[in-house]
Amino acid sequence: MIPYGRQWISEEDIAAVVDVLRSDLITQGPMSDRFERTVAEYCGAKYAVAVSNGTAALHLAVMALGLGPGGLLWTTPITFVASANCARYVGADVDFVDIDPKTLNMSIDALATKLMEAERAGRLPDIVVPVHFAGSSCDMEGLAALADRYGFKILEDAAHGIGGRYRDTQVGSCAYSDVTTLSFHPVKIVTTGEGGLLLTNDEEVARQARLLHTHGVTREESLMQGPSDGPWYYQQVALGYNFRITDMQAALGVSQMTRLDEFIARRNEIAQTYIEAFASLPVRCQQVPADVVSAYHLFVIELERHDRAEIYERLRELNVGSAVHYIPVHLQPYYRDLGFAPGDLPNAEAYYSRAITLPMYPKMGDSDVRAVIGAVTSVLS
Ligand SMILES: Cc1ncc(COP(=O)(O)O)c(C=O)c1O
Repeated sequence: MIPYGRQWISEEDIAAVVDVLRSDLITQGPMSDRFERTVAEYCGAKYAVAVSNGTAALHLAVMALGLGPGGLLWTTPITFVASANCARYVGADVDFVDIDPKTLNMSIDALATKLMEAERAGRLPDIVVPVHFAGSSCDMEGLAALADRYGFKILEDAAHGIGGRYRDTQVGSCAYSDVTTLSFHPVKIVTTGEGGLLLTNDEEVARQARLLHTHGVTREESLMQGPSDGPWYYQQVALGYNFRITDMQAALGVSQMTRLDEFIARRNEIAQTYIEAFASLPVRCQQVPADVVSAYHLFVIELERHDRAEIYERLRELNVGSAVHYIPVHLQPYYRDLGFAPGDLPNAEAYYSRAITLPMYPKMGDSDVRAVIGAVTSVLS
């Protein structure tokens, strides 16, 4: 079975992890700092805080941006539930902005309309979370202009996006946003097993995030109330969590980062081969704008006339694994219980009814790519 996604671990990656296992510090040691510096430099952001997973990075980001009870976060419904859940963790409300049917990202037009209505109703969002779906950047300039006009913060969920580019910036640079979060789950572009990271250019947000990712406990005298009792002393000055990454994971991340450009090049090569091969089939591919280089975390197609469940099964019979990204978040029972209902976000729901994710990972050989194209062509003929 060709899976829809999988990690690529090299002998160098394994050696890097084993080196940490043989060292004195296996949790918070030099590798965590090095991983943070490596990712921050690659992305072009000033500050990075590495954490235990992408969900923790989102949770930390909303806390560092000051979201809390009574607050409001907007995101896209075509994402993993974590992009919305982060608001619920801190007692804030969630709402969704429909997608653009071509790019499959949050529609800037829908956002502009919803903001106008929200201003009239007197409840604007505190944070908007664009998700670079499948690795293709959102229209960040459009978003930043709306953020200036309406005063919300931008938290980029770039779980799919490291290695991608928007205009002359690397995804993660935070050139158009307050914070960017990443995920290093094995199907993602770069993996640390479980892992995540928060990027920002805002010193205060970075300071808050670092404090809250380790219990709200500090050893820095400048952050303490009153004087330090001595070199052993620490204070808990806020309510934080244990969101730390281990040095074993960070070492894997540092090693993986050396091949990030290679990963992105191969993902783009596979994507172009698929796009050309599917041009005459009754499917639609995600449109990547001319000023974006997608990281191609996922390759999704929309079936124009075929039944998705049948195609999913028939691909399985031909040993091609597929998946569906995503079930619209507002249709999850948890969100329906909060008042969302079918029909609320028609573009997202229409996309979901037709979408299927095909295999896409850098270790995929040319023969696997040909096998996927052959299987897709045969089941759609
Ligand atoms: C868009 C998006 N955001 C957030 C996450 C959460 O990341 P993690 O699994 O590392 O917690 C994911 C993971 O699937 C994701 O796809």
